[in-house]
Amino acid sequence: MQHENSIPQGLDGQEQVLQFVREHLLRDTRVDPEDRAVFTGRLTTHVHRLVTSLYAVYGSGPGFWDTVAQAVLTAWEAFVARPRDLKDLDRRREDAQPWFTSRDAVGGVCYVDRFGGDLAGLRERIPYFRELGLTYLHLMPLYEAPEGNSDGGYAVSSYRHVDPALGTMAELAEFAALLRAQGIALVLDFVFNHTSNEHAWARAAAAGDPFYERFYWIYPDRTMPDEFELTAREIFPDDHPGVFTRVDSTEVGRTLSPLHPDPRWVWTTFHRFQWDLNYSNPHVFHAMAAEMLFLANHGAQVLRLDAVAFIWKQLGTSCESQPQVHDLLRAFNVVMALAAPAVEFKSEAIVHPDEVIRYIQPDQCALSYNPLQMALTWDALATRDVRMLSAALAERHATPEGTAWVNYVRSHDDIGWTFSDEDAARLGIAGHDHRRFLNAFYTGRHPGSFAHGVAFQDNPRTGDCRICGTTASLLGLETEPGPAVDRILLAYSLAMSTGGLPLIYLGDEVGQLNDAHWQENPDNAHDARWVHRPLYSEADYERRHDLFSVQGRIFGGIRGMITVRRSTPEFDGTTLIPFDTHNDHVLGYQRPGGHSVVLCLANVSDWSQFVTGETLSGFLPTATSLGDDERVDLRAGILLEAHGFRWLRVLPAV
Ligand code: GLC
Ligand code: GLC
Repeated sequence: MQHENSIPQGLDGQEQVLQFVREHLLRDTRVDPEDRAVFTGRLTTHVHRLVTSLYAVYGSGPGFWDTVAQAVLTAWEAFVARPRDLKDLDRRREDAQPWFTSRDAVGGVCYVDRFGGDLAGLRERIPYFRELGLTYLHLMPLYEAPEGNSDGGYAVSSYRHVDPALGTMAELAEFAALLRAQGIALVLDFVFNHTSNEHAWARAAAAGDPFYERFYWIYPDRTMPDEFELTAREIFPDDHPGVFTRVDSTEVGRTLSPLHPDPRWVWTTFHRFQWDLNYSNPHVFHAMAAEMLFLANHGAQVLRLDAVAFIWKQLGTSCESQPQVHDLLRAFNVVMALAAPAVEFKSEAIVHPDEVIRYIQPDQCALSYNPLQMALTWDALATRDVRMLSAALAERHATPEGTAWVNYVRSHDDIGWTFSDEDAARLGIAGHDHRRFLNAFYTGRHPGSFAHGVAFQDNPRTGDCRICGTTASLLGLETEPGPAVDRILLAYSLAMSTGGLPLIYLGDEVGQLNDAHWQENPDNAHDARWVHRPLYSEADYERRHDLFSVQGRIFGGIRGMITVRRSTPEFDGTTLIPFDTHNDHVLGYQRPGGHSVVLCLANVSDWSQFVTGETLSGFLPTATSLGDDERVDLRAGILLEAHGFRWLRVLPAV
């Protein structure tokens, strides 16, 4: 949307923008004065943040104040269109405590087609989401996407259309409202690093439209691509080497002679059909802000910012987590705060922990995946040694006020070993060798391994390799069901109790195994992540109430943890205090409440482990075990079964 009057340049630009916008708003008869006052109030609060964040990215270009005004007007258009019930939600959220740090918050994630067939089928599963106790439901990308391989929907052809096989946008909005009525927040992906090559913008670019060519990183020859590829990381080397792909303009019917094929190259960090957007062009920022707000207005309460680290490219760098990424996030955050403040961002930055933490900030993303805790949970289960995990909880768990980790055991993606080599070195562990060990362990190649995982993007040139497999299969449910059930519950107990929003990959709670048939679908056969994206298993879910079945023990265990978590005030908030168990097999941490503390202990080894009375002498002798309310005398020490965990309410001795 283009506005007619343009803003004069000048030092007092901010005042002029405000003036211009206020006048524009006053002329807009679609909105009543009360709503207008709400918006202008928010604008006054946030305009400075908007100006500074946009200035950091676009300040040196021409028409900077136009860029600011355009961002505000994009927010205004979305505010005008925002349904009343969502505006009410905005108001309630604006002066409430964050819901996602509460002990009630529990998330689930699934594919619409794999879990429910389509949106109509998924509606039938809402009672199940309630039974499990979810308050957050992430639907994997459900937008229009290319036929065949679409990277599991992460190649979006239109942000405004649901894949017709799954339903319509109207149905999605209705689904969101149904969830909302049940206290469940809908979480959607905002895939904003790239579009598919079939998106209208990409097609226009391929056809040679100069306006849309500048939406992407398109170069006429290999000069710039070669320069960039000196330093940018390969993410999917199985798909294509480097980060650029030849533009195929024949797809859009552009006639070029076969002797002179399209010479252009386009940036594609992930697959060849995923074209990276060019945020150095402010039009891209505006266009994507409008798409983002469209999703917010259809009822998304959390947007998962996909592949966030990659959105800014800078010659001579890794082109990941550049400072401008954070400025752009701040700018998007303001646009959301103006139009739809109930919506939170969740960052998907699966990178070095020093980088991950930079995204989880109140003015960027209130939520972030916690890939470090995820990876080190797997590390502890393989090594039966908690030192790396324990150090990470002590040093890297704290996040700013008003933010929270999303703690997960696994996701739809591979498991990558994104721990810090420096942290490992301090414990005498060599990062590179240790990753090799973990890859060997989880692919079942290491002697004595219980895991049934599959290697992903094994890159002999760089030595990089990641792991695929469902939680149950990676923990050996096929071959050693007894210990595997305990390990599954142990892994989930950590996600449930360290502080933050626990996220269940649906299917895990009934012990779903690897999909034995994943390679039969030719569209997916090259991408091992499909091994851990099995279809909804009627049989597994039916057994969930049978406490003698494996499914029932896992479901009952996870359901039980959710109940205990919900009734334990100490699990509110995100504060974690380390606790040294003096035993490398037993992880310890404390969750402080008003007067009491919950002490969490978790034994990752295959044998019973003891935490001595002396180790526990900082607490009063009498403790209560959560769940069964059993009294425990700490002076006798605590014995933990193999792969056992305990949550104890204790009182500090002083
Ligand atoms: C994220 C998604 C992953 C996808 C990639 C590209 O990492 O989680 O599934 O392949 O982005 O969109
Ligand atoms: C992500 C990560 C990478 C991950 C991939 C999806 O953004 O950077 O480690 O494996 O994309 O599979």
